[in-house]
Amino acid sequence: MSRLTVLEVPHPVLRETAQPVETVTPEIQQILSDMLETMYATNGVGLAGNQVGLLQRLVVIDCGADKPEPIKMVNPEIIARSETRVCHNEGCLSVPREYADVERWESVTVRYTDENGREQTRTAEGLLAIAMQHEIDHLDGKLFIDYLSPLKRKLLLKHLEKRRKKAARLAQEAESAE
Ligand code: NI
Repeated sequence: MSRLTVLEVPHPVLRETAQPVETVTPEIQQILSDMLETMYATNGVGLAGNQVGLLQRLVVIDCGADKPEPIKMVNPEIIARSETRVCHNEGCLSVPREYADVERWESVTVRYTDENGREQTRTAEGLLAIAMQHEIDHLDGKLFIDYLSPLKRKLLLKHLEKRRKKAARLAQEAESAE
Protein backbone atom coordinates (compact mmCIF):
# COMPACT_ATOMS: atom_id res chain seq x y z
CA MET A 1 0.00 0.00 0.00
CA SER A 2 1.19 3.48 -0.70
CA ARG A 3 -0.19 6.92 -0.35
CA LEU A 4 -0.77 8.94 -3.50
CA THR A 5 -0.40 12.67 -4.06
CA VAL A 6 -3.71 14.53 -4.28
CA LEU A 7 -3.74 17.16 -7.02
CA GLU A 8 -5.23 20.55 -6.26
CA VAL A 9 -6.78 23.30 -8.36
CA PRO A 10 -5.79 24.59 -10.87
CA HIS A 11 -4.08 21.33 -11.94
CA PRO A 12 -5.22 20.61 -15.54
CA VAL A 13 -5.77 16.87 -14.96
CA LEU A 14 -8.70 17.79 -12.70
CA ARG A 15 -10.37 19.24 -15.81
CA GLU A 16 -9.92 16.24 -18.05
CA THR A 17 -12.30 13.37 -18.75
CA ALA A 18 -11.21 10.03 -17.29
CA GLN A 19 -11.39 6.97 -19.56
CA PRO A 20 -13.35 3.76 -18.85
CA VAL A 21 -11.43 0.84 -17.37
CA GLU A 22 -11.65 -2.27 -19.57
CA THR A 23 -10.68 -4.96 -17.07
CA VAL A 24 -10.25 -4.96 -13.31
CA THR A 25 -6.66 -6.16 -13.12
CA PRO A 26 -4.58 -6.66 -9.95
CA GLU A 27 -3.01 -3.30 -10.82
CA ILE A 28 -6.44 -1.61 -10.75
CA GLN A 29 -7.19 -3.35 -7.42
CA GLN A 30 -3.93 -1.98 -6.05
CA ILE A 31 -4.73 1.55 -7.24
CA LEU A 32 -8.16 1.36 -5.59
CA SER A 33 -6.54 0.29 -2.29
CA ASP A 34 -3.99 3.10 -2.54
CA MET A 35 -6.75 5.60 -3.30
CA LEU A 36 -8.69 4.45 -0.24
CA GLU A 37 -5.59 4.71 1.96
CA THR A 38 -4.92 8.21 0.58
CA MET A 39 -8.52 9.25 1.21
CA TYR A 40 -8.46 8.03 4.83
CA ALA A 41 -5.09 9.73 5.44
CA THR A 42 -6.47 13.07 4.25
CA ASN A 43 -9.83 12.70 6.07
CA GLY A 44 -11.84 12.73 2.87
CA VAL A 45 -15.08 10.84 2.20
CA GLY A 46 -14.40 10.32 -1.49
CA LEU A 47 -11.63 10.34 -4.07
CA ALA A 48 -11.65 10.03 -7.86
CA GLY A 49 -8.92 8.92 -10.30
CA ASN A 50 -8.33 12.43 -11.68
CA GLN A 51 -7.46 13.68 -8.21
CA VAL A 52 -4.46 11.37 -8.01
CA GLY A 53 -3.40 12.05 -11.59
CA LEU A 54 -4.98 8.92 -13.10
CA LEU A 55 -7.38 9.47 -15.97
CA GLN A 56 -9.22 6.22 -15.30
CA ARG A 57 -12.83 5.99 -14.15
CA LEU A 58 -12.09 4.92 -10.57
CA VAL A 59 -13.80 6.18 -7.42
CA VAL A 60 -13.51 5.31 -3.73
CA ILE A 61 -16.00 6.50 -1.12
CA ASP A 62 -16.54 5.93 2.57
CA CYS A 63 -19.45 7.72 4.20
CA GLY A 64 -19.64 5.33 7.16
CA ALA A 65 -20.69 7.11 10.34
CA ASP A 66 -19.64 4.73 13.13
CA LYS A 67 -17.60 2.17 11.24
CA PRO A 68 -15.72 2.10 7.92
CA GLU A 69 -17.91 1.40 4.89
CA PRO A 70 -15.49 1.52 1.96
CA ILE A 71 -16.91 1.40 -1.55
CA LYS A 72 -14.63 0.89 -4.55
CA MET A 73 -16.18 1.69 -7.91
CA VAL A 74 -14.91 1.13 -11.43
CA ASN A 75 -16.74 2.92 -14.27
CA PRO A 76 -19.53 4.28 -12.02
CA GLU A 77 -22.53 5.68 -13.83
CA ILE A 78 -25.76 7.27 -12.59
CA ILE A 79 -28.62 5.30 -14.13
CA ALA A 80 -31.55 6.76 -12.15
CA ARG A 81 -32.23 9.62 -9.80
CA SER A 82 -34.89 11.17 -7.61
CA GLU A 83 -37.13 14.02 -8.68
CA THR A 84 -36.09 16.01 -5.65
CA ARG A 85 -32.95 17.95 -4.97
CA VAL A 86 -31.14 18.80 -1.75
CA CYS A 87 -28.58 21.39 -0.74
CA HIS A 88 -25.42 20.34 1.08
CA ASN A 89 -22.24 22.09 2.18
CA GLU A 90 -19.48 20.44 0.14
CA GLY A 91 -15.73 20.42 0.21
CA CYS A 92 -13.11 18.66 -1.88
CA LEU A 93 -9.56 17.43 -1.28
CA SER A 94 -8.58 19.18 -4.52
CA VAL A 95 -10.00 22.50 -3.30
CA PRO A 96 -8.56 22.28 0.21
CA ARG A 97 -10.40 23.79 3.16
CA GLU A 98 -12.96 25.65 1.09
CA TYR A 99 -16.65 24.82 1.40
CA ALA A 100 -19.82 25.88 -0.35
CA ASP A 101 -23.47 24.90 -0.62
CA VAL A 102 -24.24 22.82 -3.68
CA GLU A 103 -27.60 21.49 -4.86
CA ARG A 104 -27.74 17.89 -6.06
CA TRP A 105 -30.22 15.02 -6.57
CA GLU A 106 -31.48 13.70 -3.25
CA SER A 107 -31.04 10.09 -4.28
CA VAL A 108 -29.24 8.34 -7.12
CA THR A 109 -28.86 4.81 -8.44
CA VAL A 110 -25.33 4.07 -9.57
CA ARG A 111 -24.18 1.13 -11.68
CA TYR A 112 -20.52 0.19 -11.41
CA THR A 113 -18.07 -2.67 -11.53
CA ASP A 114 -16.68 -3.70 -8.15
CA GLU A 115 -13.07 -4.61 -7.38
CA ASN A 116 -13.79 -8.24 -8.25
CA GLY A 117 -15.03 -7.34 -11.70
CA ARG A 118 -18.71 -7.88 -10.84
CA GLU A 119 -21.40 -5.48 -11.91
CA GLN A 120 -23.22 -3.80 -9.03
CA THR A 121 -26.16 -1.46 -8.73
CA ARG A 122 -26.60 0.66 -5.66
CA THR A 123 -29.22 3.22 -4.71
CA ALA A 124 -28.08 5.83 -2.25
CA GLU A 125 -29.44 8.85 -0.46
CA GLY A 126 -28.06 11.33 2.06
CA LEU A 127 -24.33 11.95 2.18
CA LEU A 128 -23.55 8.86 0.08
CA ALA A 129 -25.74 10.09 -2.80
CA ILE A 130 -24.00 13.47 -2.68
CA ALA A 131 -20.53 11.89 -2.56
CA MET A 132 -21.36 9.67 -5.55
CA GLN A 133 -22.47 12.64 -7.64
CA HIS A 134 -19.46 14.70 -6.54
CA GLU A 135 -16.98 11.90 -7.39
CA ILE A 136 -18.55 10.97 -10.73
CA ASP A 137 -18.36 14.69 -11.63
CA HIS A 138 -14.60 14.50 -11.04
CA LEU A 139 -14.33 11.78 -13.70
CA ASP A 140 -15.86 14.23 -16.16
CA GLY A 141 -13.49 17.03 -15.19
CA LYS A 142 -16.08 18.81 -13.08
CA LEU A 143 -15.59 20.32 -9.61
CA PHE A 144 -18.17 21.39 -7.01
CA ILE A 145 -17.12 25.02 -7.44
CA ASP A 146 -18.49 24.86 -11.01
CA TYR A 147 -22.00 24.95 -9.52
CA LEU A 148 -21.37 28.31 -7.84
CA SER A 149 -22.01 31.70 -9.38
CA PRO A 150 -18.92 33.13 -11.14
CA LEU A 151 -18.53 35.69 -8.35
CA LYS A 152 -18.74 33.11 -5.54
CA ARG A 153 -16.30 30.85 -7.35
CA LYS A 154 -13.87 33.70 -7.87
CA LEU A 155 -14.01 34.67 -4.18
CA LEU A 156 -13.52 31.09 -3.06
CA LEU A 157 -10.47 30.58 -5.29
CA LYS A 158 -9.07 33.95 -4.22
CA HIS A 159 -9.45 32.92 -0.59
CA LEU A 160 -7.68 29.62 -1.30
CA GLU A 161 -4.82 31.42 -3.06
CA LYS A 162 -4.45 33.86 -0.17
CA ARG A 163 -4.20 30.99 2.31
CA ARG A 164 -1.63 29.22 0.14
CA LYS A 165 0.52 32.35 -0.06
CA LYS A 166 0.32 32.82 3.68
CA ALA A 167 1.34 29.19 4.28
CA ALA A 168 4.26 29.58 1.87
CA ARG A 169 5.37 32.78 3.62
CA LEU A 170 5.21 31.15 7.05
CA ALA A 171 7.22 28.18 5.78
CA GLN A 172 9.84 30.53 4.37
CA GLU A 173 10.03 32.48 7.63
CA ALA A 174 10.41 29.28 9.62
CA GLU A 175 13.21 28.24 7.28
CA SER A 176 15.13 31.51 7.56
CA ALA A 177 14.74 31.48 11.35
CA GLU A 178 16.67 28.22 11.59
NI1 NI B 1 -13.77 16.28 -4.75
